[in-house]
Amino acid sequence: MLGISAKIKATSINDLGTNTQKEKNMCANNNLIFRQLFDYDTWTYSYLLADPISKAGVLIDSVKEKVDRDLKLIEELGIKLKYVLETHVHADHITGANDIRQATGAEVVYGAAAKVPCADINAEDGNALEVGHFQVKIISTPGHTDGCTTYHIDDMIFTGDVLLIRGCGRTDFQQGSADVLYHSVTQKLFKLPLDTKVYPAHDYKGNEMSTVEEEINFNARLGKGKTKEMFIDIMDNLNLAKPKRIDVAVPANMKCGA
Ligand code: FE2
Repeated sequence: MLGISAKIKATSINDLGTNTQKEKNMCANNNLIFRQLFDYDTWTYSYLLADPISKAGVLIDSVKEKVDRDLKLIEELGIKLKYVLETHVHADHITGANDIRQATGAEVVYGAAAKVPCADINAEDGNALEVGHFQVKIISTPGHTDGCTTYHIDDMIFTGDVLLIRGCGRTDFQQGSADVLYHSVTQKLFKLPLDTKVYPAHDYKGNEMSTVEEEINFNARLGKGKTKEMFIDIMDNLNLAKPKRIDVAVPANMKCGA
Protein backbone atom coordinates (compact mmCIF):
# COMPACT_ATOMS: atom_id res chain seq x y z
CA MET A 1 0.00 0.00 0.00
CA LEU A 2 1.43 3.35 -0.95
CA GLY A 3 1.83 6.00 1.72
CA ILE A 4 -0.69 8.75 1.50
CA SER A 5 1.87 11.46 2.15
CA ALA A 6 3.75 10.56 -1.01
CA LYS A 7 0.65 10.75 -3.09
CA ILE A 8 -1.47 13.52 -1.69
CA LYS A 9 -0.69 17.15 -1.27
CA ALA A 10 -2.26 18.57 1.83
CA THR A 11 -4.80 21.27 1.31
CA SER A 12 -8.04 22.22 2.98
CA ILE A 13 -11.65 22.36 1.96
CA ASN A 14 -11.44 26.10 2.23
CA ASP A 15 -8.47 26.30 -0.13
CA LEU A 16 -10.71 26.44 -3.16
CA GLY A 17 -9.01 29.50 -4.56
CA THR A 18 -5.46 28.18 -4.69
CA ASN A 19 -5.40 26.79 -8.22
CA THR A 20 -2.98 28.27 -10.67
CA GLN A 21 -4.39 30.70 -13.20
CA LYS A 22 -4.17 28.07 -15.91
CA GLU A 23 -6.19 25.65 -13.85
CA LYS A 24 -8.68 28.36 -13.01
CA ASN A 25 -9.12 29.20 -16.67
CA MET A 26 -9.64 25.56 -17.50
CA CYS A 27 -12.14 25.11 -14.71
CA ALA A 28 -13.96 28.31 -15.57
CA ASN A 29 -14.35 27.10 -19.12
CA ASN A 30 -15.68 23.76 -17.95
CA ASN A 31 -13.26 22.06 -20.28
CA LEU A 32 -12.84 18.87 -18.35
CA ILE A 33 -13.78 15.73 -20.19
CA PHE A 34 -16.86 14.55 -18.31
CA ARG A 35 -19.05 11.50 -18.78
CA GLN A 36 -21.92 10.41 -16.55
CA LEU A 37 -22.49 6.67 -16.92
CA PHE A 38 -25.43 4.63 -15.65
CA ASP A 39 -26.04 1.04 -14.57
CA TYR A 40 -29.70 0.16 -15.09
CA ASP A 41 -29.61 -2.87 -12.77
CA THR A 42 -28.53 -0.98 -9.63
CA TRP A 43 -29.41 2.59 -10.64
CA THR A 44 -25.78 3.53 -10.11
CA TYR A 45 -24.04 6.51 -11.68
CA SER A 46 -20.36 6.26 -12.47
CA TYR A 47 -18.36 9.29 -13.58
CA LEU A 48 -15.34 9.56 -15.86
CA LEU A 49 -13.41 12.85 -15.77
CA ALA A 50 -10.17 13.82 -17.44
CA ASP A 51 -7.96 16.77 -18.23
CA PRO A 52 -8.24 17.34 -22.01
CA ILE A 53 -4.59 18.36 -22.30
CA SER A 54 -2.73 15.59 -20.51
CA LYS A 55 -5.69 13.16 -20.69
CA ALA A 56 -5.04 12.22 -17.04
CA GLY A 57 -8.30 11.10 -15.53
CA VAL A 58 -10.33 9.49 -12.76
CA LEU A 59 -13.25 7.08 -12.65
CA ILE A 60 -15.70 7.45 -9.77
CA ASP A 61 -17.81 4.54 -8.44
CA SER A 62 -17.33 1.93 -11.12
CA VAL A 63 -19.67 -1.08 -11.35
CA LYS A 64 -18.19 -4.53 -11.92
CA GLU A 65 -20.71 -5.50 -14.61
CA LYS A 66 -19.89 -2.29 -16.51
CA VAL A 67 -16.09 -2.59 -16.52
CA ASP A 68 -15.91 -3.49 -20.22
CA ARG A 69 -18.03 -0.46 -21.12
CA ASP A 70 -15.86 1.82 -19.01
CA LEU A 71 -12.54 0.45 -20.30
CA LYS A 72 -13.73 0.83 -23.89
CA LEU A 73 -14.65 4.46 -23.30
CA ILE A 74 -11.36 5.15 -21.51
CA GLU A 75 -9.49 3.70 -24.49
CA GLU A 76 -11.59 5.52 -27.09
CA LEU A 77 -11.05 8.88 -25.41
CA GLY A 78 -7.34 8.23 -24.88
CA ILE A 79 -7.64 8.74 -21.13
CA LYS A 80 -4.72 7.83 -18.91
CA LEU A 81 -6.55 6.75 -15.82
CA LYS A 82 -4.76 7.75 -12.60
CA TYR A 83 -7.29 6.97 -9.90
CA VAL A 84 -10.36 4.85 -9.33
CA LEU A 85 -12.28 6.78 -6.68
CA GLU A 86 -14.81 5.01 -4.47
CA THR A 87 -17.22 7.14 -2.47
CA HIS A 88 -17.82 4.31 0.01
CA VAL A 89 -18.15 0.57 0.51
CA HIS A 90 -21.31 0.01 -1.51
CA ALA A 91 -23.97 -2.42 -0.30
CA ASP A 92 -26.02 -2.56 -3.49
CA HIS A 93 -23.44 -3.45 -6.14
CA ILE A 94 -19.90 -4.75 -6.51
CA THR A 95 -17.31 -2.25 -7.59
CA GLY A 96 -15.21 -2.68 -10.71
CA ALA A 97 -12.28 -0.96 -8.99
CA ASN A 98 -9.89 -3.90 -8.94
CA ASP A 99 -10.63 -4.88 -12.54
CA ILE A 100 -10.08 -1.28 -13.67
CA ARG A 101 -6.87 -1.09 -11.63
CA GLN A 102 -5.50 -4.24 -13.23
CA ALA A 103 -6.39 -3.07 -16.73
CA THR A 104 -5.11 0.50 -16.46
CA GLY A 105 -2.62 0.69 -13.60
CA ALA A 106 -4.78 3.28 -11.84
CA GLU A 107 -4.70 3.42 -8.05
CA VAL A 108 -7.79 2.70 -5.99
CA VAL A 109 -8.81 5.44 -3.54
CA TYR A 110 -11.14 5.07 -0.57
CA GLY A 111 -11.77 7.34 2.38
CA ALA A 112 -9.36 6.38 5.16
CA ALA A 113 -12.17 5.71 7.62
CA ALA A 114 -13.54 2.99 5.34
CA LYS A 115 -10.48 0.89 6.31
CA VAL A 116 -10.55 -0.99 3.01
CA PRO A 117 -7.46 -3.24 2.89
CA CYS A 118 -7.23 -3.33 -0.89
CA ALA A 119 -7.07 0.47 -1.29
CA ASP A 120 -3.85 1.94 -2.67
CA ILE A 121 -4.63 5.31 -1.12
CA ASN A 122 -6.55 5.96 2.08
CA ALA A 123 -7.69 9.53 1.59
CA GLU A 124 -8.04 11.88 4.54
CA ASP A 125 -10.35 14.87 4.84
CA GLY A 126 -8.72 18.02 3.48
CA ASN A 127 -6.22 16.25 1.21
CA ALA A 128 -6.17 16.60 -2.56
CA LEU A 129 -5.07 14.40 -5.44
CA GLU A 130 -3.32 16.05 -8.37
CA VAL A 131 -4.63 14.78 -11.72
CA GLY A 132 -3.14 16.51 -14.74
CA HIS A 133 -4.31 20.11 -14.49
CA PHE A 134 -7.08 19.52 -12.00
CA GLN A 135 -7.38 18.52 -8.38
CA VAL A 136 -9.62 16.08 -6.57
CA LYS A 137 -10.29 17.49 -3.12
CA ILE A 138 -11.20 15.03 -0.43
CA ILE A 139 -14.14 15.82 1.85
CA SER A 140 -14.88 13.24 4.51
CA THR A 141 -18.67 12.98 4.75
CA PRO A 142 -19.56 10.09 7.10
CA GLY A 143 -23.09 9.20 8.13
CA HIS A 144 -24.35 6.75 5.49
CA THR A 145 -21.21 4.74 6.25
CA ASP A 146 -18.34 5.95 8.40
CA GLY A 147 -15.96 5.92 5.43
CA CYS A 148 -18.12 7.94 3.05
CA THR A 149 -16.10 10.44 1.04
CA THR A 150 -17.19 13.25 -1.25
CA TYR A 151 -14.85 14.10 -4.13
CA HIS A 152 -14.76 17.79 -5.07
CA ILE A 153 -13.55 18.53 -8.61
CA ASP A 154 -13.79 22.01 -10.09
CA ASP A 155 -17.36 23.18 -9.35
CA MET A 156 -18.71 19.66 -8.92
CA ILE A 157 -19.11 17.36 -5.92
CA PHE A 158 -19.50 13.61 -6.25
CA THR A 159 -21.42 12.75 -3.15
CA GLY A 160 -21.93 9.00 -3.28
CA ASP A 161 -24.93 8.17 -1.10
CA VAL A 162 -24.47 10.83 1.57
CA LEU A 163 -26.38 13.43 -0.44
CA LEU A 164 -28.80 12.30 -3.13
CA ILE A 165 -31.00 14.52 -5.27
CA ARG A 166 -33.80 15.60 -2.89
CA GLY A 167 -32.80 12.80 -0.51
CA CYS A 168 -29.91 10.98 1.16
CA GLY A 169 -28.60 7.48 1.77
CA ARG A 170 -30.01 5.38 4.59
CA THR A 171 -28.33 5.43 7.97
CA ASP A 172 -29.46 2.15 9.50
CA PHE A 173 -26.54 -0.15 8.60
CA GLN A 174 -22.78 -0.07 7.83
CA GLN A 175 -22.04 2.21 10.81
CA GLY A 176 -24.68 4.65 9.61
CA SER A 177 -25.67 7.56 11.82
CA ALA A 178 -28.33 10.16 11.08
CA ASP A 179 -26.68 12.54 13.53
CA VAL A 180 -23.34 12.26 11.72
CA LEU A 181 -24.86 12.45 8.24
CA TYR A 182 -26.76 15.61 9.15
CA HIS A 183 -23.49 17.24 10.22
CA SER A 184 -21.64 16.10 7.07
CA VAL A 185 -24.24 17.54 4.74
CA THR A 186 -25.28 20.72 6.52
CA GLN A 187 -21.87 21.72 7.87
CA LYS A 188 -19.68 20.64 4.97
CA LEU A 189 -21.54 20.23 1.67
CA PHE A 190 -24.12 22.96 2.27
CA LYS A 191 -21.27 25.38 3.08
CA LEU A 192 -19.84 25.08 -0.45
CA PRO A 193 -20.72 27.72 -3.07
CA LEU A 194 -24.42 27.58 -3.87
CA ASP A 195 -23.85 26.88 -7.55
CA THR A 196 -21.71 23.81 -6.83
CA LYS A 197 -23.08 20.96 -8.94
CA VAL A 198 -24.14 17.81 -7.07
CA TYR A 199 -23.59 14.43 -8.72
CA PRO A 200 -24.78 11.47 -6.59
CA ALA A 201 -24.10 7.73 -6.83
CA HIS A 202 -27.75 6.95 -7.55
CA ASP A 203 -30.99 8.44 -8.65
CA TYR A 204 -34.25 6.51 -8.78
CA LYS A 205 -36.39 9.16 -10.47
CA GLY A 206 -34.38 10.00 -13.57
CA ASN A 207 -32.62 13.10 -12.24
CA GLU A 208 -29.01 13.49 -13.27
CA MET A 209 -27.66 16.34 -11.18
CA SER A 210 -28.55 19.06 -8.73
CA THR A 211 -26.86 22.00 -7.04
CA VAL A 212 -26.07 22.84 -3.43
CA GLU A 213 -28.62 25.64 -3.59
CA GLU A 214 -31.36 23.32 -4.87
CA GLU A 215 -30.70 20.83 -2.10
CA ILE A 216 -30.72 23.50 0.59
CA ASN A 217 -34.07 24.69 -0.75
CA PHE A 218 -35.78 21.48 -1.79
CA ASN A 219 -34.19 18.41 -0.14
CA ALA A 220 -37.10 16.87 1.72
CA ARG A 221 -34.94 15.38 4.46
CA LEU A 222 -32.04 17.79 4.91
CA GLY A 223 -33.12 21.06 3.29
CA LYS A 224 -35.98 23.46 3.86
CA GLY A 225 -34.52 24.35 7.26
CA LYS A 226 -34.84 20.86 8.71
CA THR A 227 -33.31 20.63 12.17
CA LYS A 228 -31.13 17.72 13.22
CA GLU A 229 -33.93 16.42 15.42
CA MET A 230 -36.41 16.52 12.54
CA PHE A 231 -33.94 14.72 10.28
CA ILE A 232 -33.21 11.99 12.84
CA ASP A 233 -36.94 11.45 13.29
CA ILE A 234 -37.38 11.04 9.52
CA MET A 235 -34.50 8.57 9.28
CA ASP A 236 -35.69 6.57 12.31
CA ASN A 237 -39.04 5.96 10.65
CA LEU A 238 -38.09 4.91 7.11
CA ASN A 239 -38.62 1.18 7.81
CA LEU A 240 -36.61 0.15 4.75
CA ALA A 241 -36.04 -3.45 3.66
CA LYS A 242 -32.51 -4.86 3.87
CA PRO A 243 -30.63 -4.33 0.57
CA LYS A 244 -30.77 -7.52 -1.51
CA ARG A 245 -27.08 -7.72 -2.29
CA ILE A 246 -25.55 -6.44 0.96
CA ASP A 247 -24.25 -9.81 2.17
CA VAL A 248 -22.40 -10.33 -1.10
CA ALA A 249 -21.54 -6.77 -2.06
CA VAL A 250 -19.92 -5.51 1.16
CA PRO A 251 -17.37 -8.36 1.55
CA ALA A 252 -16.57 -8.17 -2.17
CA ASN A 253 -16.09 -4.41 -2.01
CA MET A 254 -13.73 -4.71 0.94
CA LYS A 255 -11.58 -6.53 -1.66
CA CYS A 256 -12.19 -3.78 -4.26
CA GLY A 257 -14.48 -6.16 -6.15
CA ALA A 258 -11.70 -8.69 -6.81
FE1 FE2 B 1 -24.43 3.11 -0.29
